[in-house]
Amino acid sequence: MCGIVGYNGEKKAVPILINGLLSLEYRGYDSAGIAVLNNYSKEKKYKLEIVKDKGRVINLKNNEKTKNLIGNIGIAHTRWATHGIPSKENSHPHIDNTVKFAVVHNGIIENYILLRKKLINNGYKLYSETDTEVIPNLISMHYSGDILKAVSDTMKDLKGSYAIEVISEFFPDRIIIAKKDSPLVIGSGEKENYIASDIPAILSYTNKFYFLDDEEIAVVKKDSVEFYDINLSKIQKTTKTIEWDAQSNEKNGYEDFMLKEIYEQPNAVRETIGSRLSLSEKTNLNLEYIDFKKFNRIFIVGCGTAMHAGMAVKPIFEKFCKLPTEIDIASEFRYRNPLIDEHTLCIFISQSGETADTIAALKLAKSLNATTLSIVNVIGSSITRFSDYTIYTHAGPEIAVASTKAYTCQITLLSILAIYISEFLGYDDKNLQSFKASLLKLPEKLKKVLEQSDTIKKYAKKLYNQHDLYFIGRGSDYAVCMEGSLKLKEISYIHSEAYASGELKHGPIALIEKNTTIIGVITDSITAKKTLSNLEESISRGADVLLVTNQNIDNDKIDFTVNIPSTHPLLSPILSMVPLQFFAYYIAKLKNLDVDKPRNLAKSVTVE
Ligand code: M6R
Repeated sequence: MCGIVGYNGEKKAVPILINGLLSLEYRGYDSAGIAVLNNYSKEKKYKLEIVKDKGRVINLKNNEKTKNLIGNIGIAHTRWATHGIPSKENSHPHIDNTVKFAVVHNGIIENYILLRKKLINNGYKLYSETDTEVIPNLISMHYSGDILKAVSDTMKDLKGSYAIEVISEFFPDRIIIAKKDSPLVIGSGEKENYIASDIPAILSYTNKFYFLDDEEIAVVKKDSVEFYDINLSKIQKTTKTIEWDAQSNEKNGYEDFMLKEIYEQPNAVRETIGSRLSLSEKTNLNLEYIDFKKFNRIFIVGCGTAMHAGMAVKPIFEKFCKLPTEIDIASEFRYRNPLIDEHTLCIFISQSGETADTIAALKLAKSLNATTLSIVNVIGSSITRFSDYTIYTHAGPEIAVASTKAYTCQITLLSILAIYISEFLGYDDKNLQSFKASLLKLPEKLKKVLEQSDTIKKYAKKLYNQHDLYFIGRGSDYAVCMEGSLKLKEISYIHSEAYASGELKHGPIALIEKNTTIIGVITDSITAKKTLSNLEESISRGADVLLVTNQNIDNDKIDFTVNIPSTHPLLSPILSMVPLQFFAYYIAKLKNLDVDKPRNLAKSVTVE
């Protein structure tokens, strides 16, 4: 779960590498390092030079030694520690014992202990605690003049996941890269090529990208890129043009990416709806190759926020598609022998498209003959390549670790998918038209919710010193509570829990005492009174209550109410989640925390 960047061209490599690393810090920031082939033109010789240390990319940028890296070809890394503490020794790039090969790596080498033993038995010394250090040494051990063969032999030794970049004084005109189960893209420019763990890291330089598949190798020279499979047979690839706006990668005047991404939601949802949905025509998702009649159940699988989006749409699929729909956490699904066959539709949700558990769950579903359909934000990511079918949320790049706009766009797209399936199956639900109409109005209603930010900020000021908070709601509101609680935990480090309101009496009410804070979400008129009673029971035990609602609730015992526009009850999560995103954001700001890069977390969890 690290970020890697590479550059080969006519410009000085370091500024490009540093920019790329800064954009990839969401993948980890325990240490950072760069290796460059410096060209000492008088001697006509290239020398491999490395600067690395623990700490953030900004330290690397300000390090005096970095200024001496003047070459035009280099590789760089920002680390999220898995094997070995954050330290200089464990930082990437790692080199082999002969100091000829430098490697950066994202992923986990599962058999590294065995490989370390093998290397030590062959006289090699290892200086770090990392799994990565075996890679440059294996390349060195296999090298006898043919670097491609040495890299392919090394790949055959490795078990686990990797995206690697290799440079060496032996071949100063190229970067060799390879991948398996970790992301890596190549950006193609004029007399220059870029490499990165994701598109946004290099999107300001080019919008033409090559995508490397698993167990493939690429030789990235200044003016060409060649591709090979693991057995060194040549492969042809063409570039894809990515239409994302490089500007969207910047903060655009917002203090943090998370705040910017919260404010982008009306537009992101509008883009996700696009021309897929209209009141007068059938829904269009380009899924005509799927015969939805053959399914007798649906599984929706994801992790974290993506799984919460699944929870929010379960009732939509059950109502409009009339198919039993089960939601599962990918890390549970993959190990629990789910009942799946060719009559099962498995839907995988992922912003990054790189989440290791979701990929494993997807592979399991495929092996059991299910049809796999993924809802992904990042174009060309691993999940899109493994799935039978993919439909994209058009949220644009999401940089903050805490997911916001991806969530609302996932629910939007899944709702459109449910409509599509319902129409395909020929159900003539009289509610479908009003559901569609509500969906189309969401971008405007989201704008109204954004206007509430100052109100929520005021309440956050009252609460930012709390140690515990509880969220309660029923049905779709409970799904939102789960996500609201996750948001608060991950960026403000306040302990919180979400309960289905009806469960309060079955245990958690014992925790309620004077000044306990409860956040209630009420958006469904059918259960509104029930949750309101639960809030009253809490108030009579001393709790303070914040209510997010679209119902007309006039209750002077409630400390603070955030009113949101009404919509179809099944779509309310898209609106009711926004105040909770603001709430977590402002609390984290008041606590002076790094909102975009919370401790111990990474944007994409590419390891189990
Ligand atoms: O990229 P994915 O959507 O697959 O990521 C899944 C989770 O890791 C992610 O939603 C995580 O829970 C977020 N940090 C939540 O804000």
